[in-house]
Amino acid sequence: DWIMGSFAEESVQKIKEQVGKDEVILGLSGGVDSSVAAALIHKAIGDQLTCVFVDNGLLRLHERKQVEETFRKNMGMKLVVVDASERFMHELKGVTDPEAKRKIIGRLFVEVFQEEAAKLPNAKWLAQGTIYPDVIESAAANTKKAKTIKSHHNVGGLPETLHLKLLEPLRELFKDEVRELGCELGLPAEMVYRHPFPGPGLGVRILGEVKKEYANLLRQADAIFIEELRNADWYDKVSQAFVVFLPVKSVGVMGDGRTYDWVVSLRAVQTSDFMTAKWAHLPYELLGKVSNRIINEVKGINRVCYDVSGKPPATIEWE
Ligand code: XMP
Repeated sequence: DWIMGSFAEESVQKIKEQVGKDEVILGLSGGVDSSVAAALIHKAIGDQLTCVFVDNGLLRLHERKQVEETFRKNMGMKLVVVDASERFMHELKGVTDPEAKRKIIGRLFVEVFQEEAAKLPNAKWLAQGTIYPDVIESAAANTKKAKTIKSHHNVGGLPETLHLKLLEPLRELFKDEVRELGCELGLPAEMVYRHPFPGPGLGVRILGEVKKEYANLLRQADAIFIEELRNADWYDKVSQAFVVFLPVKSVGVMGDGRTYDWVVSLRAVQTSDFMTAKWAHLPYELLGKVSNRIINEVKGINRVCYDVSGKPPATIEWE
């Protein structure tokens, strides 16, 4: 694309001038915005950029491996991967309130990131994948003292505590422009057009207390749902789709035995702004196939439901 091509070139020049010989750190989440920011900045300053990816134990199946593939192996970026999953699980122990879980996950991310930043004393800049709608949203929040129903924080709190200068090369772009730029920079289409994934990850898709056992089951079920959506060409027809883990056991039969296992719900929505959303009318055959596969392949789950609630009054996530 011609426009994004020249945007990339101009941006690269600007970043080079701005940063000079300084080092830059960036918190990579695997999401579109931070990925595109990383690719753009890497194009401009190469090894002066270090990306930090925090494995909080609440990622999707193979997500960490995919990030390592794409950024370290394919793009040759300096990437620090921190396995903090035990630490997150430990701090989440016994916590059931959704907002409390969000706060813990957000705080721990900042702590872990700061510890890594401290190991890079030459870093003068903090890069972020802030895009135009984020700029607008936080301006509105500052003036209106917005009453947020959920605290949607990913990396909030980082700039203040790190004493670094902010580098935000996507500040003027809308989401679809960020995606185009990502393609232009050679990121895989699968990554660039991926559904949004909340900062707290599976932490808000495991209802109530987060446990490693639940996260492992949820990860497998979710991967099956996404794989079947892609196979049926439904992935791009929905705005977001995922599985929710319900900490409830139900009775089932398997072979000639009785099972007493966990329940999950599938969620798939269509929306343009995520403020309101309709549940997706997925074909019954597809739902049936996903259900069969999850129950047969994920030992520990014996019942699959489909969420037919719109937003409002339900939210997209269950927490
Ligand atoms: P809800 O559940 O509020 O979700 O209808 C609307 C959109 O926001 C995402 N979401 C989050 N994103 N941190 C995030 O980064 C969060 O805590 C969070 N909670 C919800 C959700 O996935 C959906 O796209």
